[in-house]
Amino acid sequence: MATPRDAPRLTRIRYVGDGLVMSAIFTFDFNGGCFVTVLASPTDEAGGEALVPADYQFDESIEGKILTELTDLTWGTVEEVMTKKKEIKRLEQQLGELVADVCRPTMHRLMHTPIPEAQTLEDYLYPQTYMLQVVTDSAGDNLACRTLDGPGHAGVPELHPPISDERLRGMGLDLEATDIPVVKPPQIILNRRLQGFVWKVTIDGEEMICKVSIDAFEYAIGDELAAYLKIRSARVKLRVPELKGIVQSHRGVIGILLGYIPHKHHNLRALLAETSTAVSSETTTELRYKWAAQIRGTLEELHSLGILWRDIKTDNVLIDENGDAVVLDFGGGNTMGWVDPDKYGTMEGDEQGLLKIMKALEVGI
Ligand SMILES: Nc1ncnc2c1ncn2[C@@H]1O[C@H](COP(=O)(O)OP(=O)(O)OP(=O)(O)O)[C@@H](O)[C@H]1O
Ligand SMILES: [Mg+2]
Repeated sequence: MATPRDAPRLTRIRYVGDGLVMSAIFTFDFNGGCFVTVLASPTDEAGGEALVPADYQFDESIEGKILTELTDLTWGTVEEVMTKKKEIKRLEQQLGELVADVCRPTMHRLMHTPIPEAQTLEDYLYPQTYMLQVVTDSAGDNLACRTLDGPGHAGVPELHPPISDERLRGMGLDLEATDIPVVKPPQIILNRRLQGFVWKVTIDGEEMICKVSIDAFEYAIGDELAAYLKIRSARVKLRVPELKGIVQSHRGVIGILLGYIPHKHHNLRALLAETSTAVSSETTTELRYKWAAQIRGTLEELHSLGILWRDIKTDNVLIDENGDAVVLDFGGGNTMGWVDPDKYGTMEGDEQGLLKIMKALEVGI
């Protein structure tokens, strides 16, 4: 259940522009609102100049010094920036706290009511959004917060991109004609966040899993939907969750709904890592051989439908409440240590991952 938060939570920092010093945009969650807060550099070539007064002395300003320090740190080759990663993170964190402190009274004034307990996917993904700017006050010795009109500097980031119409057509999905329920974010009540953008949700009283797109892995949700649609149209019963619905926001298709698989352990990796004697009866040799056969069989069936698992690992296997293995997560992603990068996304890669799962299950091959 979502709990009201009394402190702004920094969710993201972006740098914009291409000038000498970049602007930085801090995004905060507060009381269910989203606050996109800019520290503007007039040299950022992305609109920073429009945000500062004509006689503005950037170099003398507090934000000027902060942005110059940040830009200096984040400037350089990828290797150079990597070596400074810790320092950058520390500075960003510190700045996030400073910016949050400056903006807290404004955030409180604009969003003074804590989020309701039954938060919907709509509340979470598309909160009321305000644009703020943090700028040195006219006396020149303190930072102040001011509200900006409209979406402002470089706009609000699109964090949950929709699957393109072209891709949906490629999957043979016609939203007008499909018999798969198409569900809107306000109908989806969030119960618990399981991981990243995966929640346990309730829709019309039924518990399900909801997964939505994220900009950093733009293609993942489309890949996953395509896999589930193939399984569904093959009308075969596989040891995978059932596709229960498609999530359509005002932007388009951004997520999928899956049948909830009741389970005790977060995934097979977590179960195998348990050393307590309490679970030894849950991982007997007999059970492990059964799971090995179920996983191998499921992978063969997926392959026969032309679906690759790709992100094959014990994290993506659930043991359900009947003690049977269920295969999850067709969104791609390659986790270090499972499939060699040059084999990823091939049959050979899936075979390599399967061998590692068998090894983790200690079943011999
Ligand atoms: N159908 C389901 N029923 C019950 N639990 C599920 C179901 N699908 C996923 N989960 C739980 O959510 C976790 C994450 O799901 P999944 O692996 O599909 O997402 P992910 O893409 O790995 O997320 P991230 O991208 O954040 O790593 C699983 O390990 C499992 O604990
Ligand atoms: Mg996963």
